[in-house]
Amino acid sequence: MHIDQLSVAELEIQRDSVLQQYNGLKELDLALDLTRGKPCREQVALSDALDGILHGNYLAENGTDVRNYGGLGGLAEARALFSQVLNTPPEETLVAGNSSLTLMYNTIDFALTEGLRGPLSAWGNNDAVKFLCPTPGYDRHFAICEHLGIEMISVPMLDSGPDMDIIETLVKEDPSIKGIWCVPRFSNPTGGVYSNETVERIAHLGLIAGDHFIIMWDNAYAIHTLYDDAPPLMPVRDLCHKYGTMDNLFQFGSTSKITFAGAGVAFLASSKNNLTALMQHLAFQTIGPDKVNQLRHVRFLANPDKLATHMAAHAAIIRLRFECVIDALEQELSDRGMGDWSSPRGGYFVSFNTLPGLAKNVVKLAESIGVKLTPAGATFPYGDDPQDTNIRLAPTFPHLEDVRVATNAFVICVKLASIEHYLHLKH
Ligand SMILES: Cc1ncc(COP(=O)(O)O)c(C=O)c1O
Repeated sequence: MHIDQLSVAELEIQRDSVLQQYNGLKELDLALDLTRGKPCREQVALSDALDGILHGNYLAENGTDVRNYGGLGGLAEARALFSQVLNTPPEETLVAGNSSLTLMYNTIDFALTEGLRGPLSAWGNNDAVKFLCPTPGYDRHFAICEHLGIEMISVPMLDSGPDMDIIETLVKEDPSIKGIWCVPRFSNPTGGVYSNETVERIAHLGLIAGDHFIIMWDNAYAIHTLYDDAPPLMPVRDLCHKYGTMDNLFQFGSTSKITFAGAGVAFLASSKNNLTALMQHLAFQTIGPDKVNQLRHVRFLANPDKLATHMAAHAAIIRLRFECVIDALEQELSDRGMGDWSSPRGGYFVSFNTLPGLAKNVVKLAESIGVKLTPAGATFPYGDDPQDTNIRLAPTFPHLEDVRVATNAFVICVKLASIEHYLHLKH
């Protein structure tokens, strides 16, 4: 029954029963972790063939010895391969080291301190530098802004993607807004995919905001589908090309959740102007990326259909974990008025919203019985969820059985917090 409709006596009966279950879990000394979106051991093992795949042949297609210095933009064959992930031309795609987050940090730091179009264009010349942050969103994006002293403005996330009406109004009115974070396919944490209309309006933003504005298009889950019917994403580059806003767009991706999370390959795509400017900056940091790893990835992934079959193998491993979470939430919490959640068709997360004001309490209750959840608030700028509702669940890393136990424990914590909240209201 919906929690709204329960009398105090009924609430008390339910509270006693849930409390008993909660105390039972306490005795189990659980040590479970649903915090970070990491691939599990079986997933990383799918790419074990990377080890030794070169068999002593270190020559790239053009004869480059990949063991040596150089090649700042990445191997040509790696650019060709990973441009397929981002849906971009190889000549607009740079392939780098293992982390796309590094590329994102570098891009923002460069625009802030040196300027994408020379020193006069540096955002840091202005008193205030602000960024739009669709929320809930990815904590590490927000951490980059906070670390670099960029003020964050939260924008609500809708089913269609970020609220574009609000965004268009804000960028029109405030030239100190220099960019926006986007995880356009299987967003972290909602799992949503931006609608065609949203992608088109984002591509158009440069015309409203001006040259100084950049779109940080972090397509970390570009090909990470769980089901064949997962919604596709409109290619933003084609639309930016149509509107003449190519210089406003930076796209990112990596193989962190394709091959090895700690030893993959990251890539960035942007206009030729931007790539030239950025590479001049990167040249101060490195003589060239790890081309040996790039070549290993090319040999492993560049066969026809390999990317698709490889991603299907990932999905076959983690789909069961997602279904375990969603099934438990549906069975135990559907129509109970204790929260709502996303049912993603891809990506790495399930986003759960408690009743307002309860997320922190649920996380605390879970921690007390040995179930670690991402801290409430982490999905918002400055770690502050004004409604205190959002909790990010990351089911990929633990064993399936542990996901089952952790989700059941989570459900009990949600019930306990919700029932106690209603009892408090009714007294
Ligand atoms: C949206 C998003 N972007 C980037 C990353 C990290 O990417 P990388 O491993 O390439 O640095 C993550 C990892 O969870 C993520 O969720």
